Amino acid sequence: MNLGLSGKYALVTGGSHGIGRAIAIALAAEGCNVAICARNVERVAEVVEEINGQGVTGLGLVADVTKPRDIERVTSTIIGVWGKLHILINNVGGGGSWGSDDVEKTSENVWKEVYDKNVTAAIGFTMRCLPVMRKEKWGRVVTISSICGREAGGRPWYSMAKSAQISFMKSLAVKHDLVRDGITFNSVAPGQIMIPDTGLDKKQKENPEEFNKFVMDNFPLGRLGSPEEVANVVAFICSDKARLVNGASIVIDGGQGKSL
Ligand SMILES: NC(=O)c1ccc[n+]([C@@H]2O[C@H](COP(=O)([O-])OP(=O)(O)OC[C@H]3O[C@@H](n4cnc5c(N)ncnc54)[C@H](OP(=O)(O)O)[C@@H]3O)[C@@H](O)[C@H]2O)c1
Repeated sequence: MNLGLSGKYALVTGGSHGIGRAIAIALAAEGCNVAICARNVERVAEVVEEINGQGVTGLGLVADVTKPRDIERVTSTIIGVWGKLHILINNVGGGGSWGSDDVEKTSENVWKEVYDKNVTAAIGFTMRCLPVMRKEKWGRVVTISSICGREAGGRPWYSMAKSAQISFMKSLAVKHDLVRDGITFNSVAPGQIMIPDTGLDKKQKENPEEFNKFVMDNFPLGRLGSPEEVANVVAFICSDKARLVNGASIVIDGGQGKSL
């Protein structure tokens, strides 16, 4: 299916690794010019090369999205260079293993830090990208939440922040003026995704037998998801074919989650 994204301009926050990287590459493969931002300069450069390899223009910016000044610099640089932006993927997030299982022993700062990384950053990018999308009369904002935002059970600060991301997108999706300018606002809620060189990958390598039992007990498909499987859905939401999809929270978890 041709998603009709050729010639569009996108920003993927945290696009240098994991789900963000897969989304950046998927959009580039559809003909989208893609900017990414992240903290590690080498990884940013590697992914920009992969984006360019798809025959589109990649733009890499080194930034820490928990710093408002960096959000301002990233967005103003992209808009300065390209003059337009059609797609924003609020991907940076995390903090699901921050703090401790004992809520009372977890500092209140952790709640704030996780909220800032997942929610405040997404607000900052979205607010700066909206005016340029409205000028184009076309826009897609997709925020990467989690099934933890749709049901209780994980660390509370992470679940709360992921729920807030879903609410943020839904709340903008009902604003007539924004939506009638051709902009849609959606979130996706992945289940556990196997990302090379992160926690789950290490657990699997440390004790493959125990890990296999955990997977068989908890995942209907008998396996975890991949970043590319999340990216396929996100690329579709960004397309014009998905123009009626607005305010949705789309679960991408192979049936792992328990909420309806
Ligand atoms: N993996 C899962 O199982 C899973 C499941 C559900 C939802 N999610 C959500 O999916 C999103 C991506 O997770 P992931 O697992 O793909 O993460 P990941 O593999 O660790 O990649 C995170 C990306 O964000 C960048 N990043 C992290 N902190 C940053 C900061 N402060 N400023 C700028 N860039 C930053 C990283 O680069 P640098 O470190 O170089 O900055 C990297 O490019 C998150 O919102 C997460 O909550 C993940």
